[in-house]
Amino acid sequence: MAVIKKPVIAGNWKMHKTIAEARELAASVARGFPEVSEAALILIPPFTAIQEVKRTVSGTDIAVGAQDLFWEEKGAFTGEISPLQLKEAGCDFVIIGHSERRQFFGETDETVRKKVLAALNHELTPIVCIGETLEEREKGQTLNRIQTQLENSLFALDASSFSRVVLAYEPIWAIGTGLNATPEQAEEVQAFIRSLIASRYGKTLADYAIILYGGSVKPNNALSLAREKDVDGFLVGGASLEAESFLGIAREALRAVRD
Ligand code: PGA
Repeated sequence: MAVIKKPVIAGNWKMHKTIAEARELAASVARGFPEVSEAALILIPPFTAIQEVKRTVSGTDIAVGAQDLFWEEKGAFTGEISPLQLKEAGCDFVIIGHSERRQFFGETDETVRKKVLAALNHELTPIVCIGETLEEREKGQTLNRIQTQLENSLFALDASSFSRVVLAYEPIWAIGTGLNATPEQAEEVQAFIRSLIASRYGKTLADYAIILYGGSVKPNNALSLAREKDVDGFLVGGASLEAESFLGIAREALRAVRD
């Protein structure tokens, strides 16, 4: 059975945009994408702009997410943000384990595991990032690395919890570098991820799992990546900071589904 999925296009704005700039970008995205019901668009601004972005896209199908969370609901955790606070501000999604969090802020597979549980417990859909470094790729360790990340951070979940997780394969060497994975490289890893999900949870759940690709996705490389069987959409960084390029990627992803 062929599984029909809407392409998911998530824009990770990272540490960009003031509240006023975020409002303007969200409004331009909302204005520019009438086919929104055919694709799932998710805007992921910095914490300070979540509420304003949510307000700006209200009445559309565009969803809002956060870039991280802490696993406790409240307490003496200076600088952290809780799942309850994110829900209240209007989030339905949260990125967990982005490679920049792993690289600069000490995120590990274990903290990812705790954060995923916290997100699921509060009806937030986690977008869990996994990916290899350039060194790991060059040493032929890519698939091993991916397998370890999945096993350590996600595969203890039961099937119903796992089915609510979105995955994003983001080769670290491709993030913000302008070097995207080729469609074949992305497909090799994403098919491997799906096969691991199938062995752990069964084929049906694997077929329905959403696996995004991220790493220097632009309007001019999105179509060929989106045509790959196991690429269900994109997690976009730099190109999500302008409505035109973000929408261009979304249109290419839709074209891949329609062709
Ligand atoms: P990029 O970032 O599109 O700028 O490479 C992707 C990401 O970090 O999610």
